[in-house]
Amino acid sequence: MPCTVVVGAQWGDEGKGKVVDALSADADVIARYQGGPNAGNSLVRGGETLVLHLGPSGILHPGKRCLIGNGVVVDLSRLREEVKRLESLGIEVRDRLGISPAAHLILPYHRVAEAVAESGPAAIGTTGRGIGFAYRDKAARTGLRLGDLSESGAFVAAVDRNLARLRREFPEAEALGGMSGASLLEELRDGARWVQAMLCDIAAELQVALRRARRVLLEGAQGTMLDLDHGTYPFVTSSSASAAGAPLGVGIGPRAVDRVLGVTKAYTTRVGLGPFPSEMPEESAEALREAGEEYGATTGRPRRCGWLDLPALRYASRVNGLDALVVTKLDVLDHFEEIRVAVDYECGGQRLEAGFPSGARALERVKPVWRSFPGWRESTRDVRRWEDLPVRARQYLEWIELECGVPIESVSVGAEREAEVRRR
Ligand code: IMO
Ligand code: MG
Repeated sequence: MPCTVVVGAQWGDEGKGKVVDALSADADVIARYQGGPNAGNSLVRGGETLVLHLGPSGILHPGKRCLIGNGVVVDLSRLREEVKRLESLGIEVRDRLGISPAAHLILPYHRVAEAVAESGPAAIGTTGRGIGFAYRDKAARTGLRLGDLSESGAFVAAVDRNLARLRREFPEAEALGGMSGASLLEELRDGARWVQAMLCDIAAELQVALRRARRVLLEGAQGTMLDLDHGTYPFVTSSSASAAGAPLGVGIGPRAVDRVLGVTKAYTTRVGLGPFPSEMPEESAEALREAGEEYGATTGRPRRCGWLDLPALRYASRVNGLDALVVTKLDVLDHFEEIRVAVDYECGGQRLEAGFPSGARALERVKPVWRSFPGWRESTRDVRRWEDLPVRARQYLEWIELECGVPIESVSVGAEREAEVRRR
């Protein structure tokens, strides 16, 4: 394991949080490398569901060191709320959470600008958390980082410049009128003091940990198909969700990564707008949505549902260089009579042989080529050994690994920590 990356192999919501939580038992350090509070990881602990948005999913394991990398965008008040909630449950967090001072801040004007942009014709169906505009400032070199909070004068001046620019860009955004550098700094004052003790050189810390053969988990948010470069652009998030983003987002070299683990559901979901070739008609989607409780953990939106999309999964296997797959939510398919899979795409009556369509427009034109499997129609919820899975379920899984060329390492059959089938 020494350094393992856990990455979403679909459009997010694959159950990465549960996988990281399980692997954290054997890890020493767990670090988030990109994204922000657009992520929603539902973790079941003692029958209670906890939703994490910013903290690494290892946080529920007492004593484990948790890090938030430079690649993450942080909403300070949300982070504080999350830590407070965990501490109210008796989970001590502050002494073992380290945050990169190079992580960018999501500021209130990012959310205001996003709300205006999302009400127009170029909407993406975002989570409304200011993610895109925070990363836009980062790339434009006008962003503010956690480390800038201690430089009051420069902070105020930079925010004022950003606000002036945004007011020109979005004259209809009245909320920007009431904001100023000084007022935002004042709003952030308590949070800034609170976070100060957690800021540290996480890249240096990880390097030392790896040199001492500590086991490190790098946790991705969202998924490969939402990756800024490799996803269904422009219907993507604004960060590098795929595995290559991991070393970048925590400040270690790419060769420090030993293993890349991809997480996929046994079917597919997507939240927000954009192409989704294997999407189901609404009647079947409804059944799957209810069985799988497919509602957004961050926004509560009903997720769009579809069958497994093999071309997308093969693409994710390749882009991330996956060493193994974890298949989640197999139990959700338990009672389906027929299970369908998109095995290929065709466009204008011809199979797409090579490559994966780049960008949303090209993907919108494809039609899936379907293959149908008979359902196993028995419960897998209590299965804990591979040999005990229904034969048809095993055949379905073995066929997936053969098609992707990536071995399946474990299968999740329920939300609880124990609901897992580990292979050998
Ligand atoms: P986890 O970590 C599912 C989607 C949004 C939208 C697009 C851009 O739970 O897998 P953004 O707010 O990031 O600018 O929105 O990305 N999206 C997610 N969908 N799970 C997530 O995170 C997501 N984070 C963003 O719905 O389509
Ligand atoms: Mg989500």
